[in-house]
Amino acid sequence: MGERAYNFGAGPAMMPDAVIERVAREWQDFRGEGYSAMELGHRSEHFADILARAKADLRALLDVPESHHILFLHGGATPHFAMVPLNLAQPGESADYIHTGYWSDKAMAEASALVNVRIAASAADSEFDRVPDRAGWQLDPAAAYVHICSNETIGGVEYDGDPDTGNVPLVADMSSNILSRPIDVARYGLIYAGAQKNIGPAGLAIVIVRDDLLERVRAGVPSVMKYARHVEWDSMYNTPAAFAIWVAGLVFEHVRKAGGVTEMARISVEKAQKIYAAIDASSLYINRIQPASRSRMNVPFFLREPRLEQRFLDGARRRGLLNLKGHRATGGMRASLYNAMPLAGAQALADYMTEFERKNG
Ligand SMILES: Cc1ncc(COP(=O)(O)O)c(C=O)c1O
Repeated sequence: MGERAYNFGAGPAMMPDAVIERVAREWQDFRGEGYSAMELGHRSEHFADILARAKADLRALLDVPESHHILFLHGGATPHFAMVPLNLAQPGESADYIHTGYWSDKAMAEASALVNVRIAASAADSEFDRVPDRAGWQLDPAAAYVHICSNETIGGVEYDGDPDTGNVPLVADMSSNILSRPIDVARYGLIYAGAQKNIGPAGLAIVIVRDDLLERVRAGVPSVMKYARHVEWDSMYNTPAAFAIWVAGLVFEHVRKAGGVTEMARISVEKAQKIYAAIDASSLYINRIQPASRSRMNVPFFLREPRLEQRFLDGARRRGLLNLKGHRATGGMRASLYNAMPLAGAQALADYMTEFERKNG
């Protein structure tokens, strides 16, 4: 392996070195069995042990109560934009959505064919520069659920806690900040997250769902889209993503050893502060998100002079600071600071930003 780069990509994202090394060791000879980790059979005793441990470790990491099931499903986060309304709402019912940017928008657009989507709060008027204040949400007590995106990966907007929605089940897309802080899982009816940021290989999704909601599934939903079916089959209704689940389990074990989500939260704040401090001290870089809603996971920023962008990216690349180009929908730059990004990586980027401005500002 060449020198390890700091990969600031938004996902598939940087993975912990210890996990990469472990996968490399077992890639060809899984647990001394003489077959590759990619050949790991889901009916093997090894996999039964892997799945049980992965679930137990995730339960311990997020303190998931017994009322909630943990699922490992295929297809990333996107299927849940439709599966949530199909499983939690009857046709004609309404659901409340909090509109905070690109990903909550996608969830709403997909759901709108399946449920009556009500926008209970939106930051569209202020160009998605914040999470709308909870006090101003116009929630409908009769809604089937309330949907939030806890971290807008593209906009760089993050909730600072778990909102209270009373008796209406709270559903959260936590794709880009799961495992980065303690959460009160009991507040949520359902959590879903694509794995490719803080958990493991793309294509895998984690779902945490409260047991009593499983019976709400509407008639006619295909089995593979029913959460209840996946619970019944313990995530093995069809062939599970065995390799990806193994890697996810290694990440959970790694995060536990590294101090759990409380420690991840502490380091996340420290990493993000370094980049925001570099931006705030500068007259070249701009981030327009309200301070209280700034994401610790994804820091988007723009160069006041767009002609410098390519030079910025080229210089970063020469230093092993990779994938800083912003999402195609927004342009600019974006530094993703998921759990596996070391503090030294955030420091190296902050130093580079300051030096680049000195030379080019
Ligand atoms: C917040 C959020 N939700 C959903 C998705 C879509 O995930 P997937 O590509 O796994 O379907 C992403 C992808 O980056 C995301 O950041």
